[in-house]
Amino acid sequence: MVLKLSNIEIRLLKTPTPGELDELAEMLMFRSDALTVATCAGDRSLMPEYHRAIMAACAVGGDLFVAIHHQDGHKKIIGCVAFFGPGAEFMSSNEQREQGFADFLKKLPSNWFLESFLPQYAVLSHRVMDPKVKRDAWNVNQLAVHPTYQHMGVASALMAAGEVLARTDVRLRPMILECREETVPMYEHLGYRLLGEEAMEFAPPVGEIQVCMMQKDLNTR
Ligand SMILES: CC(C)(COP(=O)(O)OP(=O)(O)OC[C@H]1O[C@@H](n2cnc3c(N)ncnc32)[C@H](O)[C@@H]1OP(=O)(O)O)[C@@H](O)C(=O)NCCC(=O)NCCS
Repeated sequence: MVLKLSNIEIRLLKTPTPGELDELAEMLMFRSDALTVATCAGDRSLMPEYHRAIMAACAVGGDLFVAIHHQDGHKKIIGCVAFFGPGAEFMSSNEQREQGFADFLKKLPSNWFLESFLPQYAVLSHRVMDPKVKRDAWNVNQLAVHPTYQHMGVASALMAAGEVLARTDVRLRPMILECREETVPMYEHLGYRLLGEEAMEFAPPVGEIQVCMMQKDLNTR
């Protein structure tokens, strides 16, 4: 899909400044997906810290790309996505967790994330995919585009940036991701196929939702 908006830059954010992390967290406040709501126990006041810690973790553990809209001399972050290359996974290292997520978890009313979400998530991914295949692939995480800028090709451009990165590898490895049922058609549109899905019990106020695992093979350079 061609970007329907001019002056959009897709940039790798290697070491985000505190100001950029704040801007990302603010941009992500529109998100009301199951993981955000359940992890924050439905408490919006916890969400800025949650988003900030996640973005900081993505920048140290993976490759965090942002979409920036340049207009009248101003720039604004309007979207993001993170790619974790072979051997790296979201929140898999202390270094990632120490970017604010460990402190954030201490503020939660329940230990749902560590005690329930992570074990359920491990079962889901192992049932659908050999853990070795998952570790060896490019894991896509945290794709989001601000509602004002949706349906203009920004997510497609962000996802394409990850594929360019993956293609620099000597060996072509698949891209994989987990998503909700609603976004399966979009990822299919981008060349992903559904590997499997599993019901997961999310903390209140969310409840049970289907989590889907998808894969795209990069067969040609
Ligand atoms: C999902 C999301 C990232 C899409 O961003 P976007 O910039 O609007 O996506 P694009 O404009 O690049 O659209 C890519 C293609 O998928 C299609 N598409 C976009 N959103 C879709 C959706 N929710 N369902 C089905 N198809 C969708 C578009 O029609 C487009 O196809 P086209 O090339 O034929 O027009 C955005 O809606 C979002 O941030 N949602 C909330 C967070 C979220 O759900 N993230 C995904 C986590 S798994």
